[in-house]
Amino acid sequence: MKDVAGFVNQSIEKLMKDIEGTAIIACSGGVDSTTAAALVNTAIGERLVTVFVDTGYLRKGESERVQELLKGMGLNLHFVDASDEFYKALRGVTDPERKRKIIGGMFIKVFEREAEKVDADTLIQGTIAPDWIESGGQLRDVIKSHHNVGGLPEEMKMRLVEPLRDLYKDEVRKVARHLGLEIAERQPFPGPGLAVRVLGEATRERTTVLREACAIVEEEIEQAAERGDCEIPWQYFAVLLPVKSVGVRGDVRSYGETIVVRAVGSLDGMTASASPIPHPVLERIGIRITNTTPEVVRVVYDVTHKPPGTIEWE
Ligand code: XMP
Repeated sequence: MKDVAGFVNQSIEKLMKDIEGTAIIACSGGVDSTTAAALVNTAIGERLVTVFVDTGYLRKGESERVQELLKGMGLNLHFVDASDEFYKALRGVTDPERKRKIIGGMFIKVFEREAEKVDADTLIQGTIAPDWIESGGQLRDVIKSHHNVGGLPEEMKMRLVEPLRDLYKDEVRKVARHLGLEIAERQPFPGPGLAVRVLGEATRERTTVLREACAIVEEEIEQAAERGDCEIPWQYFAVLLPVKSVGVRGDVRSYGETIVVRAVGSLDGMTASASPIPHPVLERIGIRITNTTPEVVRVVYDVTHKPPGTIEWE
């Protein structure tokens, strides 16, 4: 995209014409949905209701951080803590596609509830091109049902508007920068959140373990990049495997969880390469994770590129 200003102006004009009543947007505080919210907010102001849902699958401190950010942008914010509902809906679910579909469906249910309260007739989504391409939107296989695509019920009560539908991630960032949004440089975070990084059943307890590990990975890699020990990867996080292995703590055998560290370089998420993280950084991550979360006895590093691996494990 060469003319970012042109895209922004045209989008705002179109949104002003298209949206007559009240619109609602699900904003996660990520690059895509926040950029979509900012665009629509410029077009219709207070008539846009921004819903931020705590699904229980957010990162450490994220709920507070995002609420502050969205309020700071002058958005009309409605916060919903739906974590209990989400944990309940995913009870016993281990299949990645079922997880994604259930989460998508839950999102829509929560939004429709909020939309009814404010009498919204338009649903804004921050869907970007890879979301629907990888969800089988073109003549390609379904790789993953991205939550903002796969979860849509067949009969939507609201009209769907997707202002970023034709853009790739790097283009969305350009738009975000143009709009002066501080989230422009944030690493991507999948819509279904930590639920697709807790392989197997994404219970509250297992998610708590992963949340801590993820925070350590982010902190250590960011500090290493600040020291100049490595470049900041495009995306970096932890994954909790459904595989237990034998460890030893003190003199005692322990049979515990496995954490994978994943860090990749990419431009638009369609392809990616495993990032070279310096060994001492990985070692520190391993020591910190096993010290802070006694459930974990093993930490491994994923060296797979995309393709054939995807960035997220589910
Ligand atoms: P994969 O795992 O498919 O991920 O290689 C490519 C990029 O997309 C992010 N991702 C998602 N983003 N909704 C989103 O908005 C989703 O359901 C979703 N799943 C994956 C992923 O984090 C990576 O940046």
